[in-house]
Amino acid sequence: MMGGLAAGLAYEVHGERLTGERPPLVLIHGAGGSRLFWPPELRRLQGTRVLALDLPGHGRSPGMGRDRIEAYAEDLLAWMEALHLPACVLAGHSMGSAVALMTALVRPQVTAGLVLVGGGGRLRVHPLILEKVSQSATFAEAVDLIVGAAYGPQAQKRLIEAGRRRMLEVRPEVLAGDLRACDAFDVLERLGEISVPTLAVCGAQDALTPEKYSRRLAQAMPQAEVEVIPGAGHMVMLEQPRAVAEAVVRFIQERIP
Ligand code: COA
Repeated sequence: MMGGLAAGLAYEVHGERLTGERPPLVLIHGAGGSRLFWPPELRRLQGTRVLALDLPGHGRSPGMGRDRIEAYAEDLLAWMEALHLPACVLAGHSMGSAVALMTALVRPQVTAGLVLVGGGGRLRVHPLILEKVSQSATFAEAVDLIVGAAYGPQAQKRLIEAGRRRMLEVRPEVLAGDLRACDAFDVLERLGEISVPTLAVCGAQDALTPEKYSRRLAQAMPQAEVEVIPGAGHMVMLEQPRAVAEAVVRFIQERIP
């Protein structure tokens, strides 16, 4: 495994060298997450160069988080430029899907395709979560509300507890900024402008970004398709890693030149 720090973002790289290969896949985690919220099945996807990053203030990346999706998209673009990356397939989970969509809107030429996992063109956050996350006394309650709704009924307790522990490690102000960024994000009316090949993946039991959100993406974006994974919730890539990895491999082989 290689990796490092570029333009302030920590990242890891797996897979073949860049030259002559199909576009690299960039994995962008969600609110309060890190690259470890992507399972090994995706970070080591067969036949593809994969870069998994930590947004600022998350995982091993220094600094503070942001509170606007546009700012994260700028961070991503600066990082891609620093690494001299060609156009990439941008894969985002939840808030990461918003960052990927925003990047495709502001700089379509660096976006070879999109994989939107548990995504949506608008990501409003419940006011109770926003309120609890912004006070230190109730931060853990906010994490409980999110984690309590984030997994499908078949998810193993061990997986859910690991997710809770990881989210509690993030600085409260970072998670609060992420959720404010999600709440303010709304590109529903602009989805038709994004014409790169797109795969929307969601769990059939997703309570945070319901299937309806992914269907809307597929309906409004001219080159988008949707894959619904039965039994899974919002953390679909951790709950059903093989099914999601298979969908992404098929998408890349069939739709990304
Ligand atoms: N794609 C398609 N439709 C969407 C959408 C999207 N991305 N976002 C919202 N909508 C739809 C809603 O389903 C709703 O449709 P309806 O009127 O047919 O029911 C309509 O647009 C308005 O929804 P919304 O903008 O969400 O406002 P609201 O006042 O109905 O509800 C919340 C606001 C916050 C209560 C609600 O979005 C919610 O419960 N969100 C929970 C998710 C959450 O907190 N996630 C945390 C992520 S960490």
